[in-house]
This record gives sequence, C-alpha cells and structure tokens, in this order.
Amino acid sequence: MTGKTAGLPELGFDPKAAELFELMVAPVRSWVLLTGLELEIFEHLESPCSARELAGRMGLHPLNTRIFLDAATAGGFLRKEDENYQNLAFVNQYLLRKSPVFLGGMLYNSRYYWLDGLDQMAEQIKKGPLPAQEPKVTEDAMWQTMCQGLAASQRMMITSLAIEAARQVPGHENFQKILDLGGGPGLVGMALVKEFKQAKGVLFDQPGVVREAGKYIKSEGLEARFNTMGGDFTSDDPGRDYDLIWASSCLYFARHDLKAMMKRILEALKPGGVFINLHEGMEKQGTSPSAAVLSMLLTSLRGEPDMMFQKGELARAMAEVGFDPIQTRQVKTPWSVFELELAFKPEA
Ligand SMILES: C[S@@+](CC[C@H](N)C(=O)[O-])C[C@H]1O[C@@H](n2cnc3c(N)ncnc32)[C@H](O)[C@@H]1O
Repeated sequence: MTGKTAGLPELGFDPKAAELFELMVAPVRSWVLLTGLELEIFEHLESPCSARELAGRMGLHPLNTRIFLDAATAGGFLRKEDENYQNLAFVNQYLLRKSPVFLGGMLYNSRYYWLDGLDQMAEQIKKGPLPAQEPKVTEDAMWQTMCQGLAASQRMMITSLAIEAARQVPGHENFQKILDLGGGPGLVGMALVKEFKQAKGVLFDQPGVVREAGKYIKSEGLEARFNTMGGDFTSDDPGRDYDLIWASSCLYFARHDLKAMMKRILEALKPGGVFINLHEGMEKQGTSPSAAVLSMLLTSLRGEPDMMFQKGELARAMAEVGFDPIQTRQVKTPWSVFELELAFKPEA
C-alpha cells in the first residue's frame, strides 16, 4: 500500500483555485467583524476572557459564543490561549469605541452601502434597480456615527496629508483664512488652523453635521479660531477671502453642476489663493481602483448617484472656470488611490 501511494504524482494546486475557496469564506469573515461590532464583543475582550465568562457577562448563548469566538480567532481578530480569547492589537486600536481612531461605527454603517442587498445582485442585473431599504436610525444618530467615522479617518490619514500639501504652497506662512468645505467633524480644518498659527478657519457642511462638529471644536479648544457655517454647498455662499480652501471626498454631491461649484470656490478665494482637493480618480474605463469600484457596486445597481470622479475630471472643471496653475498628483491611502490637486486662483 505504502509503495503504491508513494508512486502517485504530487497533487498540484493552482493558487487561483485556492483563491476561489478563500473568496467563498470572505463574506463570513466580514460578517464576523460586523457581528462583533453589533454585539460589542470586542469591547469585552481587551483582557483575556473565556467564552463561558463572556456569555455570562453579556447574557449570550454559551455554546454559540464559543463557536463565534473560535471563528473570530480563525478570522484574524482574536487570539486564543487555553480557554481564553483576547483582541489582537489592531482590534484594540480600530474597533474599540474609546479609541481616537475607532473605525467600527463607519465600517458598520458602510454595510448598508457596500453589503446590504448582495443577494439581490443577480435580480437587479436582470431587472434593474430595486427599492433600497434605508438604514433605520435617527438623523442625529446618523450624523454622530458619520462624524465619528470621518474623525477617525481624518486623524489616521487626511490631516497629515492636508498639512503636507498646504506647506507646499508658497507663502503658506501668511495664511489668514482657511475653509474646510464639506469637512464633516472638521478635524482637517482644525489641524490646518493649528499648523498656520495666525489663521482662522471655517467649516462649511450640512446643518446637522456642523452641529455635531461643534463638539469636536470644543474638545480641541478652538472655538475662538474655528467657526462653522451650516448650509448646502451646492447653492449657498461659503464666504469670501480665503487663502486656502480644502475639500476631500465631498464634491460628488455637486457633480450635477461641477462648473458652478468650481466657480463658487474660485470666487471664495483671495487672488493668489489655493484650492486643495483630494478625491478618488477612476481609471481604466471605470474598473480601477478596485476598492472604490467594488464598494460602490450595490449603490450603483440600486440606481443611486455615482459617487466617483474619473481621473482628471475635477482638474478639467477647475481649469474651465479659470484656476491656473493646477498641480495634480496621486496619493496612496490605506483605503484606495486618490488624486490630490493644488489649484491656484490667478493674482488679480
Ligand atoms: C464623505 S464625507 C467627507 C468628509 C471630509 N471632507 C473627509 O474627507 O473626511 C462628505 C461630506 O460632505 C458633506 N456634504 C455632502 N453634501 C453636502 C452639501 N450639499 N452641502 C454641504 N455639505 C455637504 C457631508 O455632510 C459630509 O460631511
């Protein structure tokens, strides 16, 4: 018997075939993450804890708690030693509410946009958009979670990028007035105001969002140097005489008339002022970057507005209204590849 099996050819596994099996369990891994967040299980696993102890503490089913915790360990969220489970370091960093870079709320909310309705994909391809199920949350709770998620991503990657970009502008030492357009909780605008010590700043966003942003401004102690304006940036005047206007991932809401939006931004700047904009730039005929394309699949099938710009689309709209010069570069973030534009208002 041994002699016979020894003579068999080696089984060759194509890594691409293995990838297909991995893909089949990928949604389970995502759902383990979302369930851990929903039940706030990670909040209880900063220190080692057994399944029985956790189930007792949280009023859960003991056997299914153990099964879930084993899966969360297999899925790369926890470590298990003897009978005890504990969060891995990145879970403590990004998935605990007390963390300044808590991403859990934003990830949990993305579920509606990225994952809910996956089982209707085939039907929507056959028949077209099906009615969406709106998330069931109050408006205030929605703004709160949105700002919390945006605050985490701003702290993690956008504020340092904004400061670095602004420091490339000649005369940045003299910035007096800065606008954070569509800035959510406003951490980017506040970081810029802190960097350029003589500057004052304004956050312009929807009224519910600036209400929420007020808490962040207070906690930074910047009330005297950083104001808010609530309104609709597609129609309302954001003020005048800015040296720097920063906008990131928000101009899709103005894409129905991009030229008018760019004109409003140009008018709001001082002569010689700069508009710095960060956004996705789709390439390869709408098939790249993959994270951006895949995350928008379900909302696009549901017929919701296209949230992406084509590479170079915003720079063209800037040039059309008179920004000159316009410098563009690509920026890699943990999420996707972005385009960053520095667009100058010509001196009078
Ligand atoms: C994806 S978030 C980006 C936030 C922030 N710029 C960042 O990069 O973290 C889009 C922001 O645009 C704001 N926004 C969308 N439409 C708007 C409108 N018509 N007027 C004012 N703000 C708007 C939203 O409230 C939200 O804060």
